[in-house]
Amino acid sequence: MTNNDPSPDTLLAQGGHFIDSETRAIVAPIHPSTTFGRDERYETRGFVYARTANPTGRYVEALLARLEGAEDALLFGSGMAGIATFFETLRRDERVVAPRIMYHGSADWLRRLAERRGIDVAFFDASTPGSLEEVLGAGDTTVVWIEPSVNPTWDVIDVRATARAAHAAGAILGVDATVTPPVTLRALELGADIVFHSATKYLAGHSDLTAGVLATRERDARWQDIHSARTGMGGVLGAFETWLLLRGMRTLHLRYARQAANALAIARHFERHSRLAAVLYPGLESHPGHAVAKRQMRGGFGAMLSLLVDGDAALARRIATRTKLFVPASSLGGVESLIEHRATVEGPHSATPANLLRLSVGIESADDLIADLEQALA
Ligand SMILES: Cc1ncc(COP(=O)(O)O)c(C=O)c1O
Repeated sequence: MTNNDPSPDTLLAQGGHFIDSETRAIVAPIHPSTTFGRDERYETRGFVYARTANPTGRYVEALLARLEGAEDALLFGSGMAGIATFFETLRRDERVVAPRIMYHGSADWLRRLAERRGIDVAFFDASTPGSLEEVLGAGDTTVVWIEPSVNPTWDVIDVRATARAAHAAGAILGVDATVTPPVTLRALELGADIVFHSATKYLAGHSDLTAGVLATRERDARWQDIHSARTGMGGVLGAFETWLLLRGMRTLHLRYARQAANALAIARHFERHSRLAAVLYPGLESHPGHAVAKRQMRGGFGAMLSLLVDGDAALARRIATRTKLFVPASSLGGVESLIEHRATVEGPHSATPANLLRLSVGIESADDLIADLEQALA
C-alpha cells in the first residue's frame, strides 16, 4: 500500500469496483474462461491460459498485494497448496527453521520434505527465549517460517525480532499470518519477506471455500520460481471461488473486529474459571505474549483462543460435545463459532496439550457464547 492508498477498510469495502470500465459495475465480473484469444498481430492481452493467470484472480491478487504492502500476490486452491508450492521451491541443500508447535499441516509437510527430499528442517521452541538463535546457529538456514500467533497455544512470536534474527543468519522470513489477517497485522511491514494466509479462514470468512495466498516483498528469483511451481503443479484457485473470496473479503474488517471483541469478552469471563486450568489468549494482560501482541497487532488480539480444562483428554472431548452454539468442528475464521479438541485431530505427532480445547470465535452475541460455554463446563 502506498502513502496515497485509502485505508484497508476502504480498500476492502470497495474491492471490485469498476473493474469493468464499460459498465462501471461495482461488483467484480467473473472470468471463467480457461483460455484467451490472440489478436491480429498474434499478441495476447496478458492472459494465455488460466493455470498461469486468470483475470478474476489477478484482480484479487492485486488487492491482496495492496493490503499487505507487497509487490505481488498469488492465489492457490487451498492454504496447503500455497504452503506446499512455497516449500517445493526449496533445493536439497536448503535449511528451514520453524516453531515446534504450529499448524500441524505445515509441520507434517516439512517433516515429509525432510524425509523424502533431504531438506534440513529444524524446529525451535517459540516460548523459550534464545531458542530460535540457538537453532539458527546450528546450521546454514535459508528460510525461517513462523506464525505470529502460534496455533493452537497462541504463544506470540515477535515478527520484527524474528525478521532481524533470520536476516542476520542470511535467511528469509516467511510468515503464516492466517489468524492475523492484514487488518490486524502487516507482516511485510514488520520485516517479513513472504506472507502466507489460508484464505479459507478470515479472508473468505464464511466457511464456504478453500483458498490460499502468498504475497511477496520483492518479485525476486524465488518469487518467479513460486509462480512457475504454481503453474507446474497446478494448484490454482478457480474463478468462482476467487470471486466468492473477494465477496467475503469486502466485510473482513467488520467481521474481524467483532470476532476479536467477542474473543476478548470470552477470555476475560473464563480467565479464572474453576473448571479451567488456564485460558490461552494474547489479549489477556496475564498472557506472556501480551506486550508483543499489543505492539504488532492493531485493533484487538485476534479471535482464536484455547481453554485448558482442569482434567484429561476425555473430559476435554466431552465438553466439546456439550456445547449447543459452538459447533464441534475443524477450521477457523468463519462467522460461526467452532470448538475443537486439537490433540484428537492432529494425530500421533501432536505436541498440543491433551486438555486443550481450541475456540474459533464467530460474530454471534458474546453473551450467548459465554452462556453456552458455561453450560457445557457445568
Ligand atoms: C495456520 C494455518 N495455516 C495453514 C492452514 C492450511 O490451510 P487450508 O486448510 O486452507 O489448506 C491452516 C488450516 O487450518 C491453518 O490454520
